[in-house]
Amino acid sequence: NDIYLNGLDGHLPPFTTDLTALGASARERLDPGAFGYVAGAAGSGATHRANREAFERHRLVPRMLRDATARDLRTRVLGTDMPAPVLLAPVGVQSIVHPDGELATARAAASLGVPMVLSTASSYTVEQVAEANGPDAPRWFQLYWPNDDDVCLSILDRARRAGFTTLVVTLDTWTLAWRPQDLDQSYLPFIRGVGTAIPFSDPAFRAGLAQPPEEDLIAAVLRWVPMFTGTDRSWERLSFLREHWDGPIAVKGVQHPDDARRAVDAGMDGVIVSNHGGRQVDGAAASLDMLPEVAEAVGDRTEVLFDSGVRTGSDVLKALALGARAVLVGRPYAYGLAHGGEEGVRHVLRSLLADLDLTLGLSGHRTPGELSPDSLRHRPS
Ligand code: FNR
Repeated sequence: NDIYLNGLDGHLPPFTTDLTALGASARERLDPGAFGYVAGAAGSGATHRANREAFERHRLVPRMLRDATARDLRTRVLGTDMPAPVLLAPVGVQSIVHPDGELATARAAASLGVPMVLSTASSYTVEQVAEANGPDAPRWFQLYWPNDDDVCLSILDRARRAGFTTLVVTLDTWTLAWRPQDLDQSYLPFIRGVGTAIPFSDPAFRAGLAQPPEEDLIAAVLRWVPMFTGTDRSWERLSFLREHWDGPIAVKGVQHPDDARRAVDAGMDGVIVSNHGGRQVDGAAASLDMLPEVAEAVGDRTEVLFDSGVRTGSDVLKALALGARAVLVGRPYAYGLAHGGEEGVRHVLRSLLADLDLTLGLSGHRTPGELSPDSLRHRPS
């Protein structure tokens, strides 16, 4: 309504409300390296395309003459109350698309009460982002799990003190995938120290360096890379994180139902079905296609969340119908940040939430909990 009323005064939205079209306009605003990093995917892009194609294959079946005038999108996920079943996915290195980076995102998220999940690969420190996010906003912390326990505990401790309540442990990025867009341009923000603010500011990390990162960037990167990559962490070792984090923990990057079961057995409170937006394993299954199996395997024992490919309100509803309690969005808000910093992220979020609210009602539902597999049909092939 605001948008139409503002239009009467000649005020148009700051940029498109079609979140599927944001990538194309972001390309014009970003340098080719930064755009390639955000938009890019692993290998041939097969999984990136499959994520969208899976949403296209599932279709909502709206129900008529049902009372859907007063809708309530509020949801509680892993102990966090949120205005709608939507969170901002952890997206690292945000300063490559806008100088305010994660600070702008934190402000926009707080203004709408939408939880942000802060990446370990942030351009700003946990303390700075928490301050921008404010005293009352809900915030979760995403851990790239270092193999140095002192550094791990120090980062967790800082996150907890800064008011991050839920921990998201990303499992699918123990090394970076083959990403032609980045390789062709030899573009990796991390080797320039972008996205390393959290470890580089960490006392336990700095204690292992002869010189501070500000004086010897290369030495700091050489200490950081092996610490945050590799496969020497295990399902059993999750007990270490369980022991040292007293809030809820979710693992991100789960695709196979057996891995979801292992996560629950390891005491995890949630699983995030995700293929990292098609950025890790080229040729991997569409994330949406794995969601029903995971929900079936563990949905009664844990909270199942979803990401990879969500662009519209109806996408959110489809994921909920297939068993997700909430979804995370990645690239759309990164593109919003590129278009207009804090205001741009807010515009993307408001558009998504308004679309979700309208589509929920028009399809005959009052609350997200009313969606079920019967709300969908497969598009005839
Ligand atoms: C990501 N993602 C990600 N995930 C994570 O756990 N830690 C991180 O630091 C990052 N960084 C990151 C950077 C960029 C530029 C992108 C696009 C993505 C993955 C992210 O959390 C999420 O899984 C996907 O973005 C979801 O797919 P969509 O919504 O982008 O299609």
